[in-house]
Amino acid sequence: MGAEGARGSDVKLPHARIGVGGPAVSQPGQSQTANRKSQIDVLALGAIAVDDLLFVENYPKADTKTRVESRSREIGGMAAGALIAAARLGARCAYAGVLGPKSNELVRFVEGRLRAEGIDLRHAPRHGDACPIHSIVIVDQKNHTRNIFHHRGGRVGADPKRPAAAVIRSARVLLLDHIGMPGMLRAAKIAKTAGVAIVSDIDRDSAPEFRELFALVDHAIVSQAFAKKLAPGRKPAEAARLLSRNRTAAVVTCGAKGAWFAEQGGKPRHIPAMMVNVVDTTGCGDVFHGAYAAALARGLSVPDCVTWGTVAAALKASGHGHENTPRLRELLRALRAL
Ligand SMILES: Nc1ncnc2c1ncn2[C@@H]1O[C@H](COP(=O)(O)OP(=O)(O)OP(=O)(O)O)[C@@H](O)[C@H]1O
Ligand SMILES: [Mg+2]
Repeated sequence: MGAEGARGSDVKLPHARIGVGGPAVSQPGQSQTANRKSQIDVLALGAIAVDDLLFVENYPKADTKTRVESRSREIGGMAAGALIAAARLGARCAYAGVLGPKSNELVRFVEGRLRAEGIDLRHAPRHGDACPIHSIVIVDQKNHTRNIFHHRGGRVGADPKRPAAAVIRSARVLLLDHIGMPGMLRAAKIAKTAGVAIVSDIDRDSAPEFRELFALVDHAIVSQAFAKKLAPGRKPAEAARLLSRNRTAAVVTCGAKGAWFAEQGGKPRHIPAMMVNVVDTTGCGDVFHGAYAAALARGLSVPDCVTWGTVAAALKASGHGHENTPRLRELLRALRAL
């Protein structure tokens, strides 16, 4: 294959066959997600963060004082964003990465937000030294830039030994990222043996567990930047095809340029981003993964999962934080209007 990349076919959103799915809908060649009796539709173990956003007129030079015009606190992190999206789309969701002590206000904040979305935290191990990632995000309102300063004040992400294997086996979809790699690898091995579909939001290949973990992933959804690292010199279409070999599917998300996906090394297809009045694209990737996982848990096809991710991420981008991350009826309304 040439470095030019395959052109592939374009999946036009308006003509895409959109399924709604539902429990116990299984298709040949699909993972068994929809067939088994599951207690959890989407289980995630990874990154949880608290983002403190400070809105300023201009991002300041060093050694100056700047007036903050407004501020807000949002929940962030790949796992949190994905689970919120999946839960709003009707999936039974659980978070089972580490949680810190209730005396920590950041922990209380994330638990409150996740619980408010109906996300089950019963399987999340609590450790005295665990803490969400804490980010200060300076938003320059004139030039539309964001500078992020993130801090890890303790353990975060997957625990190396928890949750219990039975919890992992009871899920339809396991959503992985790169936060807590030994625990991610353990969970992926258990999921693989049990036929639980593994979806990944991995964006880093530096950990020693990366290679083995990535090989276990059934649905690898990577950003364009990470695809370039994994398939140097390849265009997103060709990267999607290469990354989909030996797995159910690979998706390369390209921000406002939509996404490329391929199934089992087949012909890559493009799905354009949905046009919206963009307000805030922070965490679009997280919402894409969550909606994809929710669709997969319903037994939908890969093209339909990509469509759910695309539509949910665009709706999310039309508001601040998660204010417009869609509920199922909103997603279905947007799909009908395409
Ligand atoms: N401006 C936009 N308008 C419409 N949809 C968007 C826009 N930006 C992103 N999206 C949707 O969200 C998907 C994921 O976005 P992106 O590729 O930026 O993820 P990412 O690089 O993982 O970013 P992050 O995880 O920081 O949100 C895109 O494939 C697209 O469908
Ligand atoms: Mg991302």
